[in-house]
Amino acid sequence: MNVASYFNTMDYAPSMEDDSGARAWLARHGGRFGHFIGGKFTAPSEGFETREPASGKVLAVVSQGLEGDVNQAVAAARKAQKGWAVLSGHERALKLYALARIIQRNARLLAVLEALDNGKPVRETRDIDIPLAARHFYHHAGWAQLQESQFPDHDPVGVIGQVIPWNFPLLMLAWKVAPALALGNTVVLKPAEATPLTALLFAELAQAAGLPEGVLNVVTGDGETGALVTKHEDIDKVAFTGSTEVGRKIREATAGSGKSLMLELGGKSPCVVFEDADLDAAVEGVVDAIWFNQGQVCCAGSRLLVHEAVAEDFHARLAVRMQTLRLGSSLDKTIDMGPVIDAGQRARIASMVDCAVASGAELVQAKIVTPETGTFYPPTLLCNVPATAEAATEEIFGPVAVSMTFRTPGEAAQLANHSRYGLAASIWSENINQALELAAKVEAGIVWVNCTNVMDAGVGFGGVKESGFGREGGREGCYDYLKPRLFAKAPERKPFVPAKAKGFTFDQVDRTAKLFIGGKQARPDGNYSRAVVGASGEVVGEVGEGNRKDIRNAVEAARGAASWGAKTQHNRAQILYYLGENLSVRASEFADRLRAMTGVKADKAKAEVAASVSRLFSYGAWADKFEGAVHMPPMRGLAIAVPEPLGVVGVVCPPELPLLGFVSTVAPLIAAGNRVVAVPSEPFPLSATDFYQVVETSDVPAGVLNIVTGEAGSLCKELAKHNDVDGLWAFGSGDLSEVVERLSTGNLKRTFTDYGRAWDWSAAVFEGEEFLRRATQVKTIWVPYGE
Ligand code: NAI
Repeated sequence: MNVASYFNTMDYAPSMEDDSGARAWLARHGGRFGHFIGGKFTAPSEGFETREPASGKVLAVVSQGLEGDVNQAVAAARKAQKGWAVLSGHERALKLYALARIIQRNARLLAVLEALDNGKPVRETRDIDIPLAARHFYHHAGWAQLQESQFPDHDPVGVIGQVIPWNFPLLMLAWKVAPALALGNTVVLKPAEATPLTALLFAELAQAAGLPEGVLNVVTGDGETGALVTKHEDIDKVAFTGSTEVGRKIREATAGSGKSLMLELGGKSPCVVFEDADLDAAVEGVVDAIWFNQGQVCCAGSRLLVHEAVAEDFHARLAVRMQTLRLGSSLDKTIDMGPVIDAGQRARIASMVDCAVASGAELVQAKIVTPETGTFYPPTLLCNVPATAEAATEEIFGPVAVSMTFRTPGEAAQLANHSRYGLAASIWSENINQALELAAKVEAGIVWVNCTNVMDAGVGFGGVKESGFGREGGREGCYDYLKPRLFAKAPERKPFVPAKAKGFTFDQVDRTAKLFIGGKQARPDGNYSRAVVGASGEVVGEVGEGNRKDIRNAVEAARGAASWGAKTQHNRAQILYYLGENLSVRASEFADRLRAMTGVKADKAKAEVAASVSRLFSYGAWADKFEGAVHMPPMRGLAIAVPEPLGVVGVVCPPELPLLGFVSTVAPLIAAGNRVVAVPSEPFPLSATDFYQVVETSDVPAGVLNIVTGEAGSLCKELAKHNDVDGLWAFGSGDLSEVVERLSTGNLKRTFTDYGRAWDWSAAVFEGEEFLRRATQVKTIWVPYGE
């Protein structure tokens, strides 16, 4: 016998982790838990059992949060918020640091309880979930310490409602709670019904670590409790991680309420293996991508895209590796995979695999020992799956990879982006040029080059498309828990009362301004026009009455101008300067138009034009200065954070300040590389239609800026419903905000609205980074670096 054959024949004996500490904690609470509100446990009430997935045994009974419980928790959080926010950053940093330390001091207890409640291997909870949770509190203790110097123009949002899933119960808590508390907010957290225990233990530990009463409240329960939290009128922000379906419901339920929202939803992340990849490394990558945590990971690399030339070899190596994975009790330190969360999830996985096989997919399943009890599902690979099959497009949320092949890098990019999701992607190639070229093309919030599922508190995490919006971690994540002061102060907008038209003076020449679509002036589809009534009642002009078809045409033109986002920043800067220059040449004409439409005095009209020219120059300046960051996480590699354009963005411009409002909203979007469909001020659209000629003489490529005049409310609805519009900014009445948020759920648009508040766009602070941040989303590219 040689050494290799010893290794081949040697079997592992189970090596069980001691669970007496976790069981003693459960016993101390009598196996029954109330909610954790205002610094203490409430008496247990009627509720539900939480079970060990590995054995099916009941671990504890937790309470179902009802309206009264949620009210009480929100009231406690509200009461605590002022006192918490007025602490100095340093004082809050000390508390966050204490939370990090208490997680570390209780690491084993937390790791075992998590493994019991969720079923995941204790090796993972011990080495991944708990250390990363502690790191999150350390990192955010730092942001609390630096808050005053780093975010001087921002305030905490207030009371945050957070709803989290069951796949990383404590880690998701840390991702949500650490930034919220660090930056002066208080929290009502609803853990997943399947895994409520570590949240309750954490709340108890936090209290012991000196966290003031009411700063963190935990209400247990199912989706109904979640809905009570997210809809509560005294919650200022909702942060949610879970399925896209529930994310949509929350978007609808909070529409127009003024609550800010962050959604971290599902994914179907591609894992692209080029022909020159280190195939053994890529095989290990797939193990981490899809069999880690039984594939119950939102960013799991569940879609393998393998170069045709190496596919056979790669699948063969993968099949061998699958065979070596071990399934077993979550407390056994030698296992690779535990059970999936519950029987329902297991049945769902099995049925999706069966469907794929029935429709012709080739099934490769490890024939490994599967424990007789518990909800185990073996590691699975499905080959030759058509790109449109359900298994290839829908989140399976289990240990199942589907594999497809490609021939060219272009085809790899097409397949990678053939998904409504856009959370993550991993790329395996020894050719860094090839990998980074695809990294730029792939539509995802996170791209891993030659690695996968790496995460850190200092690096933003979050998706694009239907994977949700907002970022967790790092500086970019902090902005999600802060509100800029400039928006908070604005008064409510007064309804606009148009002047009474004094009849109509016929003109021999048709002066009706057309629409501006695809770089050309276009007649409105319906051939109707609307009169623009000046301040003293005279008709000062006419503009086209845009309709749904016009919006569609404009969106199509904007989609066709995709190369704008790939232009150099320098190039975009030059065009914005050029727009500014050409506007300044015609300053007096624009000022006269403002006077005629709005009745403002000459000096004010002149000032508005001058401010618009300056703003165009400002965004020209910003175009090549709004940059990303290079994060240096505590592991081998760098994470490059690149702000990318949203894509096609609709803008319903503010009704007041017709020229400056138009420029202030359109210019940051264009500077950031978006293509725009703008609906100008409804009562005063002529400044925007006069702007056509400025655009035509400024080298703006066709389709980058499209302008559709007409009734703002109905055009806004069309933009909100259109699934080829990636973002929507709308400023006007409060009703408009509700429409924008409620109707934009189809493709989960990034929205930005003033909730009916009249912002003073003439103020200098109404330009710059805040707007550019909203015009972009961060893509994080993890690359190997250093020794
Ligand atoms: P889910 O989205 O229903 O649950 C996530 C959390 O939301 C839980 O705490 C739940 O109680 C709460 N919730 C449910 N309905 C709600 C509502 N109407 N309002 C507010 N909160 C609500 O996910 P579920 O049912 O646990 O899993 C279903 C599928 O969702 C999975 O198979 C998987 O595909 C996906 N999923 C994705 C996750 C991710 O991280 N992307 C995490 C969990 C699930």
